[in-house]
Amino acid sequence: MDTIPDHVAPGRIFPFDFRLDPRVRRDPWGFFHSANELPEIFYSPALGGHWVIGRAELLAEAWSRPDLFSAESVSVPKIDNPFRLIPNNLDPPEHRSYQQIFTRQMFAPRIIEALSEEFRKMTREHVDAFADRGHCDFNAEYARPVPVKIFLQMVGVPHSRRGEFDAPVERVFRGTTPKIVFQGITEVAALLDRWLDEEMADRHSPREAHMLEAMLTAEIDGRLLDKEELSSMATMLMLGGLDTVTAATMHQMLFLASNSSYLKQLVDDPGLIPNAVEELLRRFSAPNVGRVASRDFEFHGVEIKRGEMILFSTSIAGLDASRFSDPLVVDFERKGLKRDSLAFGSGVHMCSGQFLARAELRITLEEILPRLANLRVAPGAEIEYASGGTVTIPGLLPLEWDA
Ligand code: HEM
Repeated sequence: MDTIPDHVAPGRIFPFDFRLDPRVRRDPWGFFHSANELPEIFYSPALGGHWVIGRAELLAEAWSRPDLFSAESVSVPKIDNPFRLIPNNLDPPEHRSYQQIFTRQMFAPRIIEALSEEFRKMTREHVDAFADRGHCDFNAEYARPVPVKIFLQMVGVPHSRRGEFDAPVERVFRGTTPKIVFQGITEVAALLDRWLDEEMADRHSPREAHMLEAMLTAEIDGRLLDKEELSSMATMLMLGGLDTVTAATMHQMLFLASNSSYLKQLVDDPGLIPNAVEELLRRFSAPNVGRVASRDFEFHGVEIKRGEMILFSTSIAGLDASRFSDPLVVDFERKGLKRDSLAFGSGVHMCSGQFLARAELRITLEEILPRLANLRVAPGAEIEYASGGTVTIPGLLPLEWDA
């Protein structure tokens, strides 16, 4: 039986298990949308007990207070993680110098722009492999491998070593028990470590791969980063930048393959694609991260005690009716999404890879939609969502089109 702390008012207690509630498997968005009916901040006894911030405005405010909401643990329930992921698990002021390496040196918009044609080429190669066949397993043949390939290319892992990552990456993202996930993380970290050892042996020759060059030459307080820092950053990029893009790619394609009038709208007017990407990221916002209270404090009339966990759900924020009118309706012409959406978080921890993610999602739609005529979900396919994860994602997506 879960114990509820004495300071939690009975009127604020509602069970809300974003990992294992049975509704998450069939209708995760209905589940997250139901938070509109609950108090703006409530306490769920599930997952060891945690607060949930149920409105976008309050969530943005909480994201702007890292002094209260510490990123020491970014997962609900709290995991006493032996890895401290840079920059995600750091609080200001320590966070800042690392974050700038990500946002300015690795993922600035001009860098992503320069790499876009390379991403498009990789995307095309994948689509070429199944376009004439008339059907594909979209998860296995596109949504999962393409972000991994783009990531390994950007980070400069040689082609000959890329296969080594497949099984461990699969364990990290689709492991069915914490033990398997932990094993996957350990294996990925070990592979990245081995590769970094080789790269660090000759640190000063210039690298073609932009991210690797940025990591090997970045300095903090006049010193190069050490092995432990580089290893944590590389692991962070794998954990933060793969499953999220796969999930968003699956959600956008599932929606378009199930809604032919929306699909036609984008085929007829590809200029709408960038805003459609934002709207689909809002409507099907997948990450659910967490924070830990750094001390006892009051937030909008709610007493939160040091060490308690707080769920920061981008899924709830995207479906908040007080921020988005008719939040369940998809509208590719919805205004102000870049300002209002919390799909990439907010505040100091706002996603460092957001320009890369947007480019990947946009290029996917630009390349796939005009090529796969009459795209649809394979008849009879039952779409179920994987439960238990931090990122909401459909398990399978079999697609068909007129070849
Ligand atoms: C659609 C795809 C993506 C979504 C929805 C997404 C979402 C997010 C969110 C919500 C956060 C904030 C986490 C927090 O506050 O604890 C975050 C942080 C982060 N993301 Fe992403 N992300 C995506 C893709 C990527 C990619 C492609 C990369 C890089 C390869 C990346 C790298 C990071 C990093 C490094 C952070 C930590 C930033 C910090 O703590 O300062 N993400 N992301």
